[in-house]
Amino acid sequence: MIIVLLGPPGAGKGTQAERMVQKYSLAYISTGDILRSAVKSGSPLGTKAREYMEKGQLVPDELVVNIVKERLLEPDCARGALLDGFPRSVSQAQALESVLSPLGKKIDRVIHIDVTEDELVARLTGRRVCRECGSSYHIKFNPPKVRNVCDHCGGELFQREDDSLNTVKERLAVYREQTEPLIQYYSRQGLLSTINGNDDIDEIFARIVEILEAL
Ligand code: AP5
Ligand code: MG
Ligand code: ZN
Repeated sequence: MIIVLLGPPGAGKGTQAERMVQKYSLAYISTGDILRSAVKSGSPLGTKAREYMEKGQLVPDELVVNIVKERLLEPDCARGALLDGFPRSVSQAQALESVLSPLGKKIDRVIHIDVTEDELVARLTGRRVCRECGSSYHIKFNPPKVRNVCDHCGGELFQREDDSLNTVKERLAVYREQTEPLIQYYSRQGLLSTINGNDDIDEIFARIVEILEAL
């Protein structure tokens, strides 16, 4: 089973993915997480990706598509995979199809989480992330039990570099321009389920579960 999470920055893709992966034991593929760890390690990929990520722009396809391709060949993906943040443009969607089809696989469902712009800005500017395990929190909407400490692993929480207001605005503009066309693209293929993502985390998860149980 291949599931794609589609939605603007701050829609709650990572938050919902954490729960989906636990419940359905899907392999988790977040291109954002993979790129951030490449940046952290200072690898050649990370050095190239960094200049785009800190501006809130998309990293070029030739860097991103290969990451996903290799990841999908790893053994844990055999049972199914959850893609978060990929594809992010029509060209990436086409690249994904040409990676999946020789493996005899296809996308089973694209879940689009729809959230208003004001809410996205509030979510992103208040987000805190665990330095160790990558779990996402929010200072108001989803605070950790102990301030600045991860509930899961005790790691330190920090603010992502691209969560400053100016970069958030650029990321939202990039989303509208380059990623939003995928809504039409997948809708035409009959693969899209859009859910209202403005409600609380548990309610949204229940909507996702309903969609997955129907597959
Ligand atoms: P990426 O890491 O994918 O970032 P993004 O798409 O901008 O999305 P976010 O991770 O910011 O948001 P999210 O939807 O996961 O929300 P979260 O659950 O954390 O990409 C980063 C960068 O990498 C890109 O800008 C680009 O440069 C590069 N990149 C990545 N993939 C690429 C690709 N395929 N091609 C090219 N470049 C690529 O939630 C946000 C906050 O809200 C949290 O604080 C959370 O606690 C809170 N929250 C969540 N749900 C709720 C709720 N229901 N109510 C209240 N608060 C909530
Ligand atoms: Mg995320
Ligand atoms: Zn942690």
